[in-house]
Amino acid sequence: MSYQEQYETYRRAVETYLEGLFTDQNPWKDLYGAMRYSLLAGGKRIRPVLTLEFARLCGLDWHLALPVGCALELVHTYSLIHDDLPCMDNDDLRRGKPTNHKVYGETLAVLAGDALQPEAFRLMLTAPELSAQQRAECALILARAAGADGMVAGQVLDTLHHLTGREEIAGMHRLKTGAMIAGACELGAAAAGAGETVRQAAREYGYALGLAFQIRDDMLDVMGDEATFGKPIGSDREEGKVTFVDLLGLEGCEAEVLKYTAQAKAALAPLGETDFLEQLADTLSTRKV
Ligand code: IPE
Ligand code: IPE
Ligand code: MG
Ligand code: MG
Ligand code: MG
Repeated sequence: MSYQEQYETYRRAVETYLEGLFTDQNPWKDLYGAMRYSLLAGGKRIRPVLTLEFARLCGLDWHLALPVGCALELVHTYSLIHDDLPCMDNDDLRRGKPTNHKVYGETLAVLAGDALQPEAFRLMLTAPELSAQQRAECALILARAAGADGMVAGQVLDTLHHLTGREEIAGMHRLKTGAMIAGACELGAAAAGAGETVRQAAREYGYALGLAFQIRDDMLDVMGDEATFGKPIGSDREEGKVTFVDLLGLEGCEAEVLKYTAQAKAALAPLGETDFLEQLADTLSTRKV
């Protein structure tokens, strides 16, 4: 199967799984509506795809890793809903559609994000055919990736600390974006019961990929096409953020993206057949979406 076919196979499985969530009819179906609106708005799904591929690489039937990969996507989706709020990045376009609070109002947007977090842990802790230990390990990985020393720490540094130095900004990217991408990779390995050497390689790949990914995101915030990117262009500047684009220029950023992409691929050395993960890293380094 080609890289594209494999990606599509994973992506479709993720969509189908997510499509089945929060469908009951109940008096708070407005909450379900707000959750599903962002969850099913057509993200790239790179995080759950990484989970599924690492699970497969580590010898698990990847279908069994769907609940854990999709759980992390729920947390990712909550982080985007809250990231777009007026008190954060104040954006009104996401995944090519009006942001959650523009459609449902701020109260429901905050609450939809709130609900997505425990629901993610529910999915992990009830994942069929994973052992109690594997479920618990997965929950710990997600808690660390998303928590106060992970993604949320990165969001605090990004929105409140006005960072201007290169090392500081790279450290912020590592937390804000790297932690969740590294977590997605490690989740697949952990669900498959892989040992520490493999889990460490998964994390290293994820952190390097995450840095490349966020620098590319900041480049697209300047040079992207709104219709393709699906987010407003110039949002970082409007919010007064200093990014790698300010420090290194677009060409300098391109070189940094290539450097971290190579670092990500090098981290895969202890693993077996890594063509898919290498191609994914290369594809993301030139992404326009
Ligand atoms: C957006 O992540 C947030 C960043 C870390 C830049 P993605 O670019 O993966 O967003 P979706 O899920 O595809 O919409
Ligand atoms: C990543 O940073 C945000 C999260 C961790 C949710 P950005 O603020 O740059 O992401 P976009 O550009 O809004 O997707
Ligand atoms: Mg932000
Ligand atoms: Mg933002
Ligand atoms: Mg951005």
